[in-house]
Amino acid sequence: MTTHASGTDQDLSPIRFEDRTLYLLDQRRLPSEEHWLALDSVDQVARAITDLVVRGAPAIGITAAFGAVIAAQHHGDDMSAWRLDLERLNQSRPTAVNLAWATARMHRAADARGRLDVAALEAEARTIHAEDIAANRAMAQAGSALFEPGTGILTHCNTGALATGGIGTALGVIAAGHRAGRVTRIFADETRPWLQGSRLTAWELARQGIPFKVVVEGAAAALMASGQVQWVVTGADRIAANGDVANKIGTCSLAVIARHYGVRFMVVAPSSTVDPHMASGEGIAIEQRDPSEIWRAAGLDQPPAGFDAWNPVFDITPAGLIDCIVTEQGVSRPPYSFTN
Ligand code: MRU
Repeated sequence: MTTHASGTDQDLSPIRFEDRTLYLLDQRRLPSEEHWLALDSVDQVARAITDLVVRGAPAIGITAAFGAVIAAQHHGDDMSAWRLDLERLNQSRPTAVNLAWATARMHRAADARGRLDVAALEAEARTIHAEDIAANRAMAQAGSALFEPGTGILTHCNTGALATGGIGTALGVIAAGHRAGRVTRIFADETRPWLQGSRLTAWELARQGIPFKVVVEGAAAALMASGQVQWVVTGADRIAANGDVANKIGTCSLAVIARHYGVRFMVVAPSSTVDPHMASGEGIAIEQRDPSEIWRAAGLDQPPAGFDAWNPVFDITPAGLIDCIVTEQGVSRPPYSFTN
């Protein structure tokens, strides 16, 4: 494993765009290997999103924005072919709204010029990336201010620089709380089946020199009962107008357990993750992935005879179980009502 104990959350970004080419840090290969893929077609970008080369709601939005630049590089002035490519990017994963949010912004940038101005589109994609980092910085400050000294935190999935343009959402808040001396214990869920917690969050925290412990998901109730955590802090893939939150499968279980043990529950996400057109979580499409992810996570090369699995990769946490939602615009508390 490659570690950079001197690394900070400021110097890691899984997405780079240089010389008309999109470079993605291949998250499937972390932490064993830091391998970058170079992409120069929309098909490659869409497949990279579907196959989880890049994952995390804000990161896939930024990736799609650069995908729209690559589409423009290929289509000259054929606006309808470009729009079809953006639709292909939109379809690459269903749950995180950041994808459609980013492609809608790219549409507006093209419409404003009335043509495919590649330089203007590249500038817009870079702005989306920079705004995400700025939002994460603001959320890190606002969210970490809510922790009292001696706070212990349980987090889920990976919400760090790898999942965003840089810094991270929930993990940015946790790291800021640690740097401020208020967060003294950090627990990261393994996050089955893809192990975003034990592979990616652990790698990011180690890289920053922040101590942590990985726990299996089944340890959540025991951990909360033990009094070692005062907050559960997660990101989001889509936040409905009423505050229901779609996030990595297992998030809702944590919220239910947290409420039982009097542990507070915080969601951290930029406003690009808020979908004011979605009245409640009921309407959010939940991505179902291949059952092979589950038997592979069990270390099997082939499924045993008769093996089957159900693999929804997100769930909905009802707004009533969430104590606060932190965006770059501030801290919201129930009853939630998000508009744009
Ligand atoms: O399937 P993934 O790894 O893309 O799921 C990611 C999550 O659920 C994150 O918690 C969410 O996108 C917030 S990341 C800042």
